[in-house]
Formats: sequence, structure tokens, C-alpha cells
Amino acid sequence: MTTPKREDIITKAFELNARRNYRTNLNSPEVDELKESGIYEEAKNELMRNPSNEFLAYLEKEAMSLGYRLTKEKIEHSKQIVSDPFSIDLDEAMRTGLFISGTSHSGKTNLAFVVSDLLLSNNIIVYVVDPSQAWYNSSVPNVIQIRWPMSVTFRDGNAENGKLIKNGTVFDVSRLTILQQKEFVESFCKKIFELRVDSKVKPKTFIFFEEAHLFFPEGSMRSKRYQEALRIITVGRNFNIRFGLITQWCALIDKTVIKFPRQKYLGYSDEKNDKEYLRNFIGKRVDELETLEVGQFIYDFGKNTTKVQVPLFRCEPKPLLVTT
Ligand SMILES: Nc1ncnc2c1ncn2[C@@H]1O[C@H](COP(=O)(O)OP(=O)(O)O)[C@@H](O)[C@H]1O
Ligand SMILES: [Mg+2]
Repeated sequence: MTTPKREDIITKAFELNARRNYRTNLNSPEVDELKESGIYEEAKNELMRNPSNEFLAYLEKEAMSLGYRLTKEKIEHSKQIVSDPFSIDLDEAMRTGLFISGTSHSGKTNLAFVVSDLLLSNNIIVYVVDPSQAWYNSSVPNVIQIRWPMSVTFRDGNAENGKLIKNGTVFDVSRLTILQQKEFVESFCKKIFELRVDSKVKPKTFIFFEEAHLFFPEGSMRSKRYQEALRIITVGRNFNIRFGLITQWCALIDKTVIKFPRQKYLGYSDEKNDKEYLRNFIGKRVDELETLEVGQFIYDFGKNTTKVQVPLFRCEPKPLLVTT
């Protein structure tokens, strides 16, 4: 029996459910048109991030009937594999950014919690664009729920008496549509640039993009959309702004964009497209991705490629909710 591509299952699930759940018109747009409109992305995104989602139930059923075991179960039942302790070069992250990939439930967000806690402890400001409400358990001190239409005020990190203050904010964009999320990211990146360009102090700032494929899709380097977000990647370094890309769909991210971060953490994946894509970076070791447990990553940095075990992050006290 052949294993269906995840993409195919999702497309099918989406097509079957599209009319009922999403804003499609009566002329039944083609899949291509849906992709263009962002609705397709929304469905995929929704599908993989929300465990109680109708799509996911469908996907599970469909996948089981085709003899395709879902990753979550596989991860939980697979054997313990010896690995190195987690490590990261924060200076390198501030130079070239970070890339984190893996299927849903591979431990990406937990890894980003660990990293953001380290960044905050080193007086680096952390901003997070969070479409999945996962960051309420991180140590980033502030959370702002973004609603539409939006007018967002947040306290940017700045020098106080010449000393940096520990600061960071999660922007919970889960209530926005995908198109609104994209618009939010563009406005936010533009704002941060304006703040830094016009200011004498350029505090070190790190921005995590969850679901990064939405904001840096294939071809975005050449397109006119997404230009503000891309500025963070291409020239942000000159203003002390760096970025962390988190995605479960690495093959959908612009190839040039992925080349910027020298440190890459690649989590569990058994998806053919993603594995072929990652083969460009870690060669044969891509085969190990299928054997990883939750919290284990192939860490690729320069000439070194190792398997690392990320600790489970526990945060106390809870972050402060700033605005709703
Ligand atoms: N390093 C880890 N060690 C143990 N359990 C982990 C680890 N990372 C994640 N988990 C568990 O797996 C769940 C999913 O992790 P998460 O980081 O949200 O995955 P992802 O962002 O890839 O979907 C978490 O709720 C947590 O309980
Ligand atoms: Mg996550």
C-alpha cells in the first residue's frame, strides 16, 4: 500500500469540507484559486494546530484507512534515542537568526520557549507572533491579544538610564484570519524598523515567527508583498533585529530565507517533501528525522550536525496579560 502524501490528504480534506466551513463562493473556486486567496493555507494551518479540529478528525480517519500512522502516536511510542544535551550559540542567533522545523507536536514551540528565556536573560527583547495561543506558557512577560481592526500599542524595549530593561511581548494573533495575520506582521515589522532606524539606541531584539511559512512563503523574496517582514531578514541585523522562524511546513518557506539562519533545529518529520527539502541542508541525516522523539532535534550549525535533546520548559511566574 502506498503512503499518501500529507499534502494530498489535506487537499482532499479541505475540498470536502471547504463549502461547509470556509468562505468559498458558489462557483466552487479551483484549488489554485483557493491557494491564492490564503484560505487553503488557513485550512492547512488550522488542521495541524488545533487537535479538536474537524479537519484533523477527518485526516486521522482518512490516514488510518490508508494505513498511514499519524506522527503523534509514533512519537509517543518510539524508543528512547541517545542524544547530546541542547546547545545554542546566542551570538550566532543574533547574527543570522534561527530556523526550527518539525511536524505538529515535535516540540518546536517548547524549544522556542527555552531559547526565548535565554534571550530574555541576556537582555535581548523578544517579540513573538503567535497564531496558536501556545505562548501563554512561555516566560515572555507580556501578551497582547490582537483584534481586528487593530490599533496596537506596546512598550518597546529601550534604554532606561543607559541600561537595558528585560522586555518582550507575545502578539496573540489567533483571532485574526490568515490574511489579517499577514497584514499584522507587515505593519509590525514596519513599525519596529521605524522605531530602530530613528533611534540612537538599537537594543538587541529577536522576533519569533510561528507558522513562518505564512509570512515567508516560497517566492516571497522576489514578490512585492511581504517586503517589511523580509527587511527583518535581509537587513535587520544592521539594526540589531534578528528572527526565529518556526514552521511545520519547511518546504513551503522561501529557500533563500532558510539560508540565512546558520543554526537550524530540525524536529520529527516523515513528510516526503519536507525531508527532500531538508536533505539539501543535512544530507543523509535527514533519515534520522523519522526516529526523533518529542523534544529531540537534529541541530545543524556550520560543519556540525548533532542530535540534541531539548529540556521541557517550565515557566514561573505566569506572564502578565497586558491588553485584550
Ligand atoms: N523537550 C521536551 N521534553 C518533553 N516533552 C516535550 C518536549 N517538548 C515538547 N514536549 C511535549 O510535547 C507537547 C507539544 O510540544 P510543542 O512544543 O507544543 O510542539 P510543536 O510546537 O512542535 O507542535 C508539549 O505540550 C509538551 O508536553
Ligand atoms: Mg507549536
